[in-house]
Amino acid sequence: MKAVRFTRYGGPEVLDVAEVPRPAPAADEVLVAVVAAATNPGEIGIREGRYATMWPAHFPEGQGNDFAGYVVETGTATPAFHIGDEVIGIAPRRAQAEYVALGAHRLALKPAGLSWEVAGTIAGAGATAWASVAAVNPQAGETIVVSAAAGGVGIYAAQLARLRGADVIGTCGAANFERLAALGIRPVHYGPDLARRLRDLAPGGIDGFIDTFGAGNVTTAIELGVQPHRINTLIDHEAVRRFGVHSKAQEQADTPEVWSALATLLARGEISVPIADVYSFTTDDVRQAYRDVGTRRVTGKRVLRIAPSPERVRPLADSVER
Ligand SMILES: NC(=O)c1ccc[n+]([C@@H]2O[C@H](COP(=O)([O-])OP(=O)(O)OC[C@H]3O[C@@H](n4cnc5c(N)ncnc54)[C@H](OP(=O)(O)O)[C@@H]3O)[C@@H](O)[C@H]2O)c1
Repeated sequence: MKAVRFTRYGGPEVLDVAEVPRPAPAADEVLVAVVAAATNPGEIGIREGRYATMWPAHFPEGQGNDFAGYVVETGTATPAFHIGDEVIGIAPRRAQAEYVALGAHRLALKPAGLSWEVAGTIAGAGATAWASVAAVNPQAGETIVVSAAAGGVGIYAAQLARLRGADVIGTCGAANFERLAALGIRPVHYGPDLARRLRDLAPGGIDGFIDTFGAGNVTTAIELGVQPHRINTLIDHEAVRRFGVHSKAQEQADTPEVWSALATLLARGEISVPIADVYSFTTDDVRQAYRDVGTRRVTGKRVLRIAPSPERVRPLADSVER
């Protein structure tokens, strides 16, 4: 099968779509044909070796986490899944591949009407936003700020906070003002003097702050009087130590129940996730995808399209449904 591999730390040029052996599922696993796999900025840190102390690569290393696909082979101990089931899940550092084998407890069913690209972002950015929102616990009528609100995690988090009845202010660049406003989120420019702009927008004060970008956002929130237990940051570990704010992320919402809940909200149109770009599964396109992710300018998510939609799913020629 084809899968993303890199054999040394470096820039996007170290990424290749290579031929590798197809994984064989164990008895408690299913084999999934991946249709769409998300890209995430954290994957750049791993590939560049910036996180090597905490999360070293094991060469040849794979890439990708959250994905959507369909079951092509089941194990003897996976009664909940059948060939052809459309699923979402997470396969750390190996989702950008034509096939992944993983435990049935690491999958949730994908609603039929939900696009593959959007579904492929749920277990990563979606779950991360879910954990961030749960930590800050927005209430109806409260004012909540979400930083980088048009980014992958931010666009989920801002809408989840809105669904709870909060008045949500989202920081963004000029290109995303209209998009956020259309989602009922009050846009405001990030950058110098953010505290002043937030005071103007929320004269009654800010109740909670969901930081998905760092760059001093937590300090700004503290200056604005937000209580540390109503602040979550995904990235500012120094602020976590200094102020005791939350740092809940994907690991704290890493369950099929959360993925199903998000998938239902998306399928019902209660939240939406724009797909900024779709890339084909070639070396050139994968490298370009990560150049684009590295700009940290986006509306929603960038996704790799690994395979076409299945019209009628058949077992693989050399697979047996056990
Ligand atoms: N630990 C975990 O489980 C986990 C999981 C997922 C993500 N994360 C982390 O969470 C963070 C967010 O991830 P993501 O996927 O949402 O990132 P992303 O999609 O790359 O975020 C891009 C957004 O950042 C905004 N931005 C750019 N410069 C900014 C600035 N100076 N201040 C505020 N916003 C700025 C951009 O706004 P405009 O385009 O509007 O200019 C863009 O929409 C990353 O650090 C990622 O590594 C952690």
